[in-house]
Amino acid sequence: MSSNQVWQSDHYDSKLGFVSEFGKDVVRLLNPIKDERIFDLGCGTGDLAHEISQAGARVTGMDLSAPMIEQAQRKYPHIQFMVGDGERFTADAKYDAVFSNAALHWMKNPQSVLAGVWNSLKPGGRFVAEFGGKGNVDAIVQAIGEVLREDYGIDAGKLNPWYFPSIAEYSMLLEQQGFRVTYAIHFDRPTRIKDNEQGLNHWLRGFADSFFTALGEAERDAVCSKIAVKARNDLFHDGSWYADYKRLRVMAVKPG
Ligand code: BEZ
Repeated sequence: MSSNQVWQSDHYDSKLGFVSEFGKDVVRLLNPIKDERIFDLGCGTGDLAHEISQAGARVTGMDLSAPMIEQAQRKYPHIQFMVGDGERFTADAKYDAVFSNAALHWMKNPQSVLAGVWNSLKPGGRFVAEFGGKGNVDAIVQAIGEVLREDYGIDAGKLNPWYFPSIAEYSMLLEQQGFRVTYAIHFDRPTRIKDNEQGLNHWLRGFADSFFTALGEAERDAVCSKIAVKARNDLFHDGSWYADYKRLRVMAVKPG
């Protein structure tokens, strides 16, 4: 994962565990087979690398964040993890599949990512990924933008760390790289965030740091409260916060 985001691996595991929970569906689409070599791109704290390894596949996990990789290695010592940049990686070997969950939206140069994925795959290998698609977290982005502009004169557009392509745009990039796109879907997934009233605050502190780098710690808490006031009507229902996720899920094959 890239950007100015500072990753707090304990917060990620304790408050934002839905990321790996939903990712289990993506592992099912990957359908790992015993002895396959699988590369997990943007593996975070390693839960899905572990899930994939349970099928007997040999997994290598990579993430840009050293604290995330340290946590992954502590939790799953039998798996090989490494720190690396998804926009500039050269894999150590050829893989049967590259897998990625909830990571590609942090990489704003998708052509470089896809070139790396392509070079890591054996002929016939598959790329299976899910990440934020066009319109993802629109209500949150809008509330952040309004508060930063109205109260601080900051243009949030310039600080936005995320890439949320449409299904057409991403399929075209895959095809330009040489892939055959065998599956692609863009769907809504309103996602409940743990801890009731505090949910949006956990999400913002866990994922939206890049917007708040000019602000001190106390101001960050104040800004998150103001964002919550703006977003409440759209995202707070029945006592819980729901992030307005829109996912893009794809499978693409490197022709043999
Ligand atoms: C997502 O999983 O869609 C996501 C997570 C953090 C920031 C933005 C999007």
